[in-house]
Amino acid sequence: MAPTTTLPERRVRFAYPDDLDPCWCHRFPEFACAANSISLIMPFAEPYFVKTVRSTLPELDEPLRSQTEAFCRQELAHHVEHRKFNALITRRYPEVVRVEGWMRRAYGWLSRTRSRRFNLAFAAGSEAIAYALARWIEAHLAQLFSDADPVPSTLFLWHLAEEVEHKSAAHDVFEALDGSRLRYAWATSVSVALLAFFVWTASLAQLKAQGRFWNPIAHLRMARWGVSVAFTMLPTLAVSALPGHTPRRFTDPIYLPKWLALFDPATGTIPVPTVIGSPVSDGADHGTAV
Ligand SMILES: [Fe+2]
Ligand SMILES: [Fe+2]
Repeated sequence: MAPTTTLPERRVRFAYPDDLDPCWCHRFPEFACAANSISLIMPFAEPYFVKTVRSTLPELDEPLRSQTEAFCRQELAHHVEHRKFNALITRRYPEVVRVEGWMRRAYGWLSRTRSRRFNLAFAAGSEAIAYALARWIEAHLAQLFSDADPVPSTLFLWHLAEEVEHKSAAHDVFEALDGSRLRYAWATSVSVALLAFFVWTASLAQLKAQGRFWNPIAHLRMARWGVSVAFTMLPTLAVSALPGHTPRRFTDPIYLPKWLALFDPATGTIPVPTVIGSPVSDGADHGTAV
């Protein structure tokens, strides 16, 4: 199936006030810890994907080449915003800086030492992981985001919505230049393992900083979400590793693409997510992320 998706570059303007609480999900602070941990990974993982995929551009024909360039622009915008948000997290929770060092070393080592084919499979598999996370988050929006701070919520949901939008981009490059299902399955397994390890360790560091390290409820909730994510993610990844698979066959979530369509390029703003139960396509002014 040929690349057909247009991938717009949306420069969403985020303002992070100095007093923004990095524990931005008040009902479930552990959820903020887990989401923050993913945010901490982004400045190391996404440049790795971009570097890998960008290195293939001279070998790609149109329209795959243009789609890949647009994919790189979206990913770069993501990690630039996460980097700014992460500065707030590390300022409040210096305990995570050590875990950040492990992240830097792990993704840097992969980028430097693995073959381009492995790195491409890793990027394609990681995009399938991001798509599965978007599906899981959409299914739990009302529960997890109903009383969350709007700015971090907008950051994460904008990122996830664009992950859904470009779900096929890295896979198309991988298919065009390699396509080995074995390599894809192996690289995706490594990506899942790294993600799980870093989310767990960075979440523990944040719980420790909050004085909630020994709170059994926090650990029970994180374990429950972990199992729930696995039930969404593992079947998605298994299907994505089958011969002939294209991510275009995956059904998009409903809310996230509709909400993303409300982005206003003139102002660089997007309405604050109206957490589910409310219509998202009513055209009303729901406020902005800045
Ligand atoms: Fe991204
Ligand atoms: Fe992505």
